[in-house]
Amino acid sequence: MLDDGRNVDSIFRDLEEFKKMNMTYESGRILGSMCTKPDPIGLKAYKMFIETNLGDPGLFEGSAKMESQVIDMLGKLLHLDDASGHIVTGGTEANFMAMTIAKYLFLENNSGVPEVILPCNAHFSFKKICPMLSVKPVYVPLKDYRMDCSVIEEYITDNTMAIVALAGSTELGLVDDIARISEIAQKNRLYLHVDAAFGGFIIPFMKNDKSHPLNFDFSCEGVDSITIDPHKMGLAPVPAGGIIIRDKKHLEKLSVKTPYLTKEKQTTVVGTRTGASTAATWTLLNYYGKSGYKRIVNESISLTKYTYNQLKQIPQIKLTCKPDLNIISFKVENMDSKLLQRKLLKLGWRVSVSENPYAMRLVLMPHVKKEHITEFIKTLKKVIEEK
Ligand SMILES: Cc1ncc(COP(=O)(O)O)c(C=O)c1O
Repeated sequence: MLDDGRNVDSIFRDLEEFKKMNMTYESGRILGSMCTKPDPIGLKAYKMFIETNLGDPGLFEGSAKMESQVIDMLGKLLHLDDASGHIVTGGTEANFMAMTIAKYLFLENNSGVPEVILPCNAHFSFKKICPMLSVKPVYVPLKDYRMDCSVIEEYITDNTMAIVALAGSTELGLVDDIARISEIAQKNRLYLHVDAAFGGFIIPFMKNDKSHPLNFDFSCEGVDSITIDPHKMGLAPVPAGGIIIRDKKHLEKLSVKTPYLTKEKQTTVVGTRTGASTAATWTLLNYYGKSGYKRIVNESISLTKYTYNQLKQIPQIKLTCKPDLNIISFKVENMDSKLLQRKLLKLGWRVSVSENPYAMRLVLMPHVKKEHITEFIKTLKKVIEEK
């Protein structure tokens, strides 16, 4: 830090330089991110509420009212009246809150080391959460890249505190059989958390495929909480995660007294937290409505189908599975995925590589358009042919 401050113009010249180092969503070349360009209307609302602090809601009653309306709207979207929850920093914090609730509930009647049953492909946030909460993760194998429901019960012990299921896996965008897992949770009286950080803003807006319904929300009676992130397919600026909880009493388990603030207690992990994310989410939910999100989601889903079919025509490419959502996974014959990733990066394309399966991963977010895919496929073919 300098002893004296600098001239503002020179600072902003530096900022421009930093900005130039970043990739942009507009380029259409970010093909591996679960975030996208924030909607300008949401950004306008974000800026309008940037100084508000939801950690001290008595000072910012309008922001607090917006948060409860957002939770109500998201609850109803997920087939739950009278939902409770919060707008948080992202999926990690939302999952953390759910696991903390499950642990507190478990400890009311048990004294063992709590265990959580997760699919092997659960997001890495659980690798942070479990040690932080001293909870033992118990990983269930996958069948066709989804949690193998037929074996879940074999993993339940007296110390099982919860089951986690995925509605939109990070690597493949696949949705677990939540209806069946919900029955298992109910039968065994276990807390069930659905991580729909990614799928939460997609599945409710998709055209219903009757042969393969993606039934994932509170309409499954055993579901206790759902992570749903506005800063992914909800088009809100980062940070905006969501945790929606069925039973108000469960959220109260997180309550701590906040003596020096304007409200008596708090039920979030973060103390001082922005009201801007809530304002952006409130605005986007009102601005787009269901029909607006349906349009956005179905454009991405159509582009995913188009891309999938284009890739299928390249003989050296092996697709991993049929996508449920807007993520495509594939391998190229006799070519290491990380090597291909590096080659594509040199040509300006940011594609990610998944670990399980070890494969190329494309996420077709709303900033990716058909012309970008046409260009990408051309480049990909060239790289494969040059091999
Ligand atoms: C399924 C799932 N859960 C949780 C997360 C974590 O979300 P965040 O990065 O917003 O904390 C992600 C992130 O991609 C995710 O895909």
